[in-house]
Amino acid sequence: MSNEKATLSVGGKTIELPVYSGTEGPDVIDVRSLVQEGFFTYDPGYVSTASCESKITYIDGANGVLLHRGYPIEQLAQHADYLEVCYLLVHGELPTEEENERFRNTVNNHTMIHDQMSHFFNGFRRDAHPMAIMVGVVGALSAFYHDTMDLTCEQEREIAAFRLIAKMPTIAAMCYKYSMGQPFMYPRNDLSYAENFLHMMFAVPCEEYKVNPVLAKAMDRIFILHADHEQNASTSTVRLSGSTGANPFAVIASGIAALWGPAHGGANEAVLNMLNEIGDESRVEECVARAKDKNDPFRLMGFGHRVYKNFDPRAKVMRETAHEVLTELGLQDDPLLRIAQRLEQIALEDDYFIERKLYPNVDFYSGIILKAIGIPTSMFTVIFAMSRTIGWFAHWNEMVSGNYRIGRPRQLYTGYSPRDYPKKK
Ligand code: SDX
Repeated sequence: MSNEKATLSVGGKTIELPVYSGTEGPDVIDVRSLVQEGFFTYDPGYVSTASCESKITYIDGANGVLLHRGYPIEQLAQHADYLEVCYLLVHGELPTEEENERFRNTVNNHTMIHDQMSHFFNGFRRDAHPMAIMVGVVGALSAFYHDTMDLTCEQEREIAAFRLIAKMPTIAAMCYKYSMGQPFMYPRNDLSYAENFLHMMFAVPCEEYKVNPVLAKAMDRIFILHADHEQNASTSTVRLSGSTGANPFAVIASGIAALWGPAHGGANEAVLNMLNEIGDESRVEECVARAKDKNDPFRLMGFGHRVYKNFDPRAKVMRETAHEVLTELGLQDDPLLRIAQRLEQIALEDDYFIERKLYPNVDFYSGIILKAIGIPTSMFTVIFAMSRTIGWFAHWNEMVSGNYRIGRPRQLYTGYSPRDYPKKK
């Protein structure tokens, strides 16, 4: 807490507001008393609003810094694996070897879903978007785990974490298998988290499937890079829906729904569609010109960020991973990679992007890796949702285990003033 006060002079009043300092980042002005003074703050899109206090993730957008419980994302991507990052995000510290082993074994005990849940898939058309299926099936988990949810009980919240971490890859792979008309593959607990996901995605009952370790490592790194990102739109959705005391599985389904939009997690799918639409390096300049044209709704997908006004540190790791994967698969000359590299080079030299501090974000390269691994574009955001589930849970858990109130923003009302119902003629 800082001793500084903010002084607001408005409506002939002078209002003193407390100022708080965090361990990193800007100080915040506590405006909660304004409602007693007859004022609301106004911040559509929450550009300069801190919605909560949190210890989980810190982003320094000006310098391209992303910390999870203090650890830089580059170091976690290099030294940790996704389950270690899951433990870190929820518990605040990296696990000891013994804690790590116990955590993995517990996750393994929850990888299957209730057999009856597979019936939910049959209600969807085979060409249904997998994100639509994901929202529905994860929401349905709340029907299987509703009666036992006492949010005040730490153990019950922890079980919910294990069920979510363990079952999301199973459900995600089932979404893919359903769209392919192939049988669902059961999880294999002898495989690592990423190996198991690739197995459930690409194995078939009639032959052995050998997981490529380079692709498994790249998959695990993609999981780490998408795990959490402070109070982004989907995490804020989870906090708001969770603040009503709703079932945590239904709350996670609300996060999946919010993530789907092309301005958020749906951007990775939109990047691939954009690169395919460009089709050739010779058309890149035309695409950049359209992105700058105010009369053209076209945006450079995978570019720009509300917080990063420098390189998204995740994009740098993702770009390195793209080269590793394409080299492993002999696809160094992948035309989409060449178009992406040309797009990045031109945009970063163009005043429009420089003035607006628009850099590649986490979604710009991820789709190239996923496509090379053989994952269809429509599954990209499903993988983002799978990875981000731990971030959503960590923020939900941090909120419900502390003092919290139901989220209920106000508005600037510009509609009609009171008027009478017209008398019948
Ligand atoms: C994610 O919040 C998070 O942390 C999200 C995320 C996470 O991990 O959870 O990081 C994941 O969602 C990454 C972002 C993925 N989205 C995209 O790649 C879609 C393309 N980018 C944008 O639509 C946009 O940049 C946003 C949505 C990401 C940010 O939007 P803002 O902060 O509201 O910025 P803005 O729309 O007000 O843009 C500021 C200016 C505008 O121009 P002017 O009106 O000032 O002239 O920049 C322009 C915009 O037109 N602009 C772009 C652009 N992004 C912004 N112009 C062309 N192409 C773009 N991509």
